[in-house]
Amino acid sequence: MPAKDTYYLTTPIYYPNDIPHIGHGYTTVAADVLARWRRLRGDRVHFLTGTDEHGENIARAAAKRGMTPQEHVDEINPRWHDMLSLLDISNDDFIRTTETRHTARVQDFMQVLYDRGDIYLDTYRGAYCVFCEAYYVADELVDGQLCPVHRRPVEQREQENYFFRLSHYADQLLRLYDAEPSFVQPAVRRNEVRSFVESGLQDVSVSRVSFDWGVPVPWDDKHVFYVWFDALLNYVTAIGYGNDPGAFARRWPADVQFIGKDLIRFHCVYWPAMLLAAGLALPEQVYAHGFLLVGGEKMSKSNATGIRPAELVDHFGVDCYRYYFLREISFGQDGSFSWESMEARYTTDLANDLGNLANRVLHMVGTYCGGTVPEPAAAAGDAEAALAADLRSAIDGMAAFDRLDFKKGLEDLWIGIGAVNRYVEARAPWRLHKQGDTGELGRCLYTSVDALRIIAVLISPVMPDAAARLWDKLGLHEALSAQRYPASVQPGLLPVAAEVERGKLLFPKLEG
Ligand code: MSP
Repeated sequence: MPAKDTYYLTTPIYYPNDIPHIGHGYTTVAADVLARWRRLRGDRVHFLTGTDEHGENIARAAAKRGMTPQEHVDEINPRWHDMLSLLDISNDDFIRTTETRHTARVQDFMQVLYDRGDIYLDTYRGAYCVFCEAYYVADELVDGQLCPVHRRPVEQREQENYFFRLSHYADQLLRLYDAEPSFVQPAVRRNEVRSFVESGLQDVSVSRVSFDWGVPVPWDDKHVFYVWFDALLNYVTAIGYGNDPGAFARRWPADVQFIGKDLIRFHCVYWPAMLLAAGLALPEQVYAHGFLLVGGEKMSKSNATGIRPAELVDHFGVDCYRYYFLREISFGQDGSFSWESMEARYTTDLANDLGNLANRVLHMVGTYCGGTVPEPAAAAGDAEAALAADLRSAIDGMAAFDRLDFKKGLEDLWIGIGAVNRYVEARAPWRLHKQGDTGELGRCLYTSVDALRIIAVLISPVMPDAAARLWDKLGLHEALSAQRYPASVQPGLLPVAAEVERGKLLFPKLEG
């Protein structure tokens, strides 16, 4: 069997009932930035996302529209693909849980658990939220009757269900959280999960008989699997579980599984227990980010605050969209979106700090050097040494992306961009040009364009489109996609005589 050789990361699979909003975009962009970052670091990457298409909620929505559930999900599916292309998402696969490559393997996996005695039949009574597709115990309800997530009345249900012996795994899970603190991140979520498990785990229902829009239980076709068990398995079915052992071995276990903090119980308790039961390795890390809030509330379709990514991309462009959320909000914490703060980021960070820098420098190479990168004839002096040190900190700082601290990585990078701006200001190439000091002018412009080259590579995971446009202006022969961190972001690798082009502004003034 081949060894694992692929960095494997996942997003949750989304309910296609919802029109994609910026909350969904948030997880997806963060995962994409990490996927691109890992590729830049030289890893082979497999990045999975998809849609969660079974369950009562979907069946109800379809019935309301007078459609079969399959017609309903087929019709909505392209909107999710539209979101991915709108946001420049470089996923390697997209799984739909209605695909046979998934459903057949869900049956295989659950059969293994059944055969091992980890699944049994019993009757379940409890409060159920159809929107979460989950049962809640009484003390989790708001005002004794509302779902804690949706604030809608729960239903009392009694059903004959198959149960998974989750309670058997409590001790192993507690040992896991303690022995592998990186398994659930950030730490606040690990503590939350740990106290949930410590307070006592009940066995959990894994099947439903009240509707049939799901994967049939292979040993009892009156039942379909509960949508969460079906859904969680996408992470293994999509990469060859039970179907392509070689491909599976190269990817599993996942390196990072991204989720919103609403999903920790499923991903940090049920999911590892299922894997333990099946004898599979556990993911290295489940990372739960915070919520995007609008007006202080979790943004969602049901509270009418859902903002579509296209509304922002149309105005700010995809690069600003991708940059803004990661720069503005500490990954892992909740954060508020506002139009004004996004506008400020666009104008200050992107148009002024980065866009103007590129524009000025390339304009000067155009007018003073006929558009070709000059020889750095004069020796590097104090100004260059200081800039090199500042760039070194920015380059090293980007390694914060390894820890998923995107905000810190970007802050450090922008400190570096600020240093390049100050360098240009201080060296005043327009003065060197006037004085006819071609040696110093060459040194200064070479150093500045070389810094732009480094910046283009460093911004590429976050702003692939702007990075490509900047790269094109630099007239380099090597492809941007062939650049690696840290080898390609060392100073001085810019070839002399590269033909640069000022071209259009990287971040034009916002309209309206
Ligand atoms: N289908 C399940 C997940 C199954 S994974 C095996 C589901 N889907 S969902 O579409 O409702 O939400 C999925 C994810 O979208 C959340 O975990 C979170 O990552 C993201 N978000 C949805 N609303 C969000 C915000 N307001 N803010 C940030 N992320 C949010 O749950």
